[in-house]
Amino acid sequence: MSLHFNLLTLFPEMFPGSLGSSLAGRALERGDWSYRCTDIREYGEGVHKSVDDTPYGGGAGMVMKADVLEKALLASKDEGARRIYLSPRGKVLNQAFVKELSAAPALTLLCGRYEGVDQRFLEAHDFEEISIGDYVLSGGEPAALILMDSCIRLLPGVMGNVDTADNESFGAGADGLLEYPHYTRPSMWVDAQGIEHSVPEILQSGNHAKIDEWRKAQSLEITRMRRPDLLQKD
Ligand SMILES: C[S@@+](CC[C@H](N)C(=O)[O-])C[C@H]1O[C@@H](n2cnc3c(N)ncnc32)[C@H](O)[C@@H]1O
Repeated sequence: MSLHFNLLTLFPEMFPGSLGSSLAGRALERGDWSYRCTDIREYGEGVHKSVDDTPYGGGAGMVMKADVLEKALLASKDEGARRIYLSPRGKVLNQAFVKELSAAPALTLLCGRYEGVDQRFLEAHDFEEISIGDYVLSGGEPAALILMDSCIRLLPGVMGNVDTADNESFGAGADGLLEYPHYTRPSMWVDAQGIEHSVPEILQSGNHAKIDEWRKAQSLEITRMRRPDLLQKD
C-alpha cells in the first residue's frame, strides 16, 4: 500500500522539503509514498504567465484564476485522487481525519496563494477544504507538507513500532487523550544549577500493570489541564 500526492503549486521547489529527510525521506526512497508537482505557473496566461486577477466586488489582494487552475489540474492527471484545497476556511485536520486520508490511494493537494482561489473552480472539480489550524499562512505549501507528514507516518512500515501511532497523543490506544510524560536515562539528572531531578519511581518498578495505570492517570490529568475540549467529545 502506497500513497501518492499530486501537488498543485506555484512553488514546486518547496517539495519534498522536510519530507526528504528522516523517517519520511527513507519512506520516499522505499516507495511507500510518492509525489509529483504540477507548476501552476506553467499554465498561466500571457508573457508574464499570470495566474491571478482582482476579486469581483472589490477588496484587497488577488484571486487565483479558475481557467488557469483547471488547466493545471487536468494536466496533472489525478484520476482516482481525493481532491483537497488547503484553506483556513476548511475542516480542521485532526488525527482521526489524518487516519482516514492516509488510507486513500492518492490525494491531490491544491496550495493556494494570495487571497485564495476562484470558488467556481473548487465547486466544479469537487475540492474539499482542509485547514491545518485556526491561523493564516501566506501559502498552502507549508500546510500541504504538514498534512503529508501526518499521513506518511501512518503508512504501514513507516514507523518502526506498529503500536506507536495508537498509543501517542490522540491515538486509539490512548482513548483520544494527550500522551503521558516520557523519561529516559539517567534516573537522576542534575541540571546546570545543581538541582536534582529524579524519574518517577513507578516507572522504575518493573510493574507493568501499575505503570499502565500511572500513564493513563497522567494522560487524563494532562488532557484535563491542557485540552478539556478533548474530554467533552463522545
Ligand atoms: C493568505 S492565505 C489566504 C487567506 C484567505 N484570504 C482567508 O482569509 O481565508 C493564502 C493561502 O494559504 C493557505 N493557507 C493559509 N492558512 C491556512 C491554514 N490554516 N490551513 C491550510 N491552508 C492555509 C491557503 O491555501 C490559502 O489560499
